[in-house]
Amino acid sequence: MGVINVLDKHVAELIAAGEVVERPASAIKELIENSIDAGADDITVEIQNGGITFMRVTDNGCGIMRDDIKKAFLPHATSKIKLENDLESISTLGFRGEALSSISSVSRLQLLTRHKSEELGTSYEIDGGEEIVFDDAGCPVGTTMIVRDLFYNIPARMKFLKQNRAEGNAVANVVDKTALSHPEIAFTFIRDGRRVLKTSGDGKIKSAIYSVFGKDFADGLMPVSYELNGVSVKGYISKPINSRPNRSMQSFFINGRYVRSRTASVALEEACKGSVMVGKFPACVLHLTVPFEAIDVNVHPSKIEVRFINERPIFDAVYHAVKTSLNKNDERKKLSFPEKKDDAFSQLRKPKPFVATPAVFEKKEEAKPEPTHNNPFDELNAVVGTINPPKKETAVLHDYDSPIKVYSKDAVRRQENFQSKLEKFKAKPTDTEIVSEKKPEKKPEEQPGIIVEADEPKTLYEQPKNKIVFIGEAFKTYILVEKNDKEIVIIDKHAAH
Ligand SMILES: Nc1ncnc2c1ncn2[C@@H]1O[C@H](COP(=O)(O)OP(=O)(O)OP(=O)(O)O)[C@@H](O)[C@H]1O
Ligand SMILES: [Mg+2]
Repeated sequence: MGVINVLDKHVAELIAAGEVVERPASAIKELIENSIDAGADDITVEIQNGGITFMRVTDNGCGIMRDDIKKAFLPHATSKIKLENDLESISTLGFRGEALSSISSVSRLQLLTRHKSEELGTSYEIDGGEEIVFDDAGCPVGTTMIVRDLFYNIPARMKFLKQNRAEGNAVANVVDKTALSHPEIAFTFIRDGRRVLKTSGDGKIKSAIYSVFGKDFADGLMPVSYELNGVSVKGYISKPINSRPNRSMQSFFINGRYVRSRTASVALEEACKGSVMVGKFPACVLHLTVPFEAIDVNVHPSKIEVRFINERPIFDAVYHAVKTSLNKNDERKKLSFPEKKDDAFSQLRKPKPFVATPAVFEKKEEAKPEPTHNNPFDELNAVVGTINPPKKETAVLHDYDSPIKVYSKDAVRRQENFQSKLEKFKAKPTDTEIVSEKKPEKKPEEQPGIIVEADEPKTLYEQPKNKIVFIGEAFKTYILVEKNDKEIVIIDKHAAH
């Protein structure tokens, strides 16, 4: 006897529901999408206990005709497509005819609806797929769906639900994204009796952003509006200075649908290269409008991903849209100076070793003799024959102007052998002088370089001699400092960071 069973209707429905309804947030997403497809411009979402025990979505859309109500809860029942060809250009958010059948088979669902062409509304109740009530009801045009006790009849699924708070946050995230995707719709979100979101529905993306993410975020944005090869890109990106530590604030919408799009995200970040600090990410709320035929929305169970027939136009449009906005809104004042070879500013731009901390020590394996005027032995050589500089020179610390050498004890001893001959050269100043730790001939601060006694190579450093005075900041971008009472140094603080 064979082992293959054809599953009965109820089990098949539960399996199908598992794909569509994973948690309260996925049910809410389906219900809100239905309201949007019904042409609503006012949608209220309410949840209790993370949505697990109670969810309600009320809209002022077209409503469902009494004759259609039962059909709407059957699998593969939809008013949005009819024929195979329709799948090639889907203009609505829903199209599979699965959401209501799935949600109603794993919860206790109550519907109140009145179609705009009908005088009387209808109340319909369905528990785990079984009809309970079908009756007249007085209600305004539009639809209210109440979903209670999600997964009450599938304990296995129930176990995977998170704490109420986490489930509620997931629902909030769905409502936020949907509110951003349709700024022409006024959304209200009530969580455990408290209103946590209200958008105006004035059609402006910025207003929706303001309601969802708050004033601070909204104030740190710049507008994007661009069209290329039939792809329109509209919305906002964060000013470079307001970049984020991760990508969580990147929202892309394609034809009014929130989607995850790697292509768009890569294009955004490529365009921001050079403007946004390494390790930071631009934030955005970008609405892309493309021909319906250019995308396939039938690729993901919760319709959160779409496939592009050709990714290139999407990438190009987002890239150029963002670049154009960045160029237009670059608030940094441009500073330019005539190119003069030897002026103080061009000298400053030449890379020079700069001593800020001991960490900038340059280690040298084989130290070479310094130029004549820096090496006292060179001058001795001329008088007493060849004397090599001490071999254990171990480290050189650069100041802007002069190197400081560190010699070993051995080198100091050798130096003492020639003390008498050295004496006569002492009169002549050198940049680097050899001294004993016990008997410094000058105070260290009076010397351009010093040598200390050391058995092992030791590091030695001193503060740079440059006098740096902070003057102030210009255009919130450039730090001005005065150097050595004679030069002004201008530092682009973003680049410096
Ligand atoms: N809020 C609503 N207002 C008006 N009609 C609705 C509403 N919700 C559902 N309907 C009707 O019920 C039908 C079935 O809804 P359901 O969500 O199950 O499928 P769908 O939206 O067509 O496709 P999908 O499964 O992809 O969401 C819809 O096609 C629509 O005609
Ligand atoms: Mg639907």
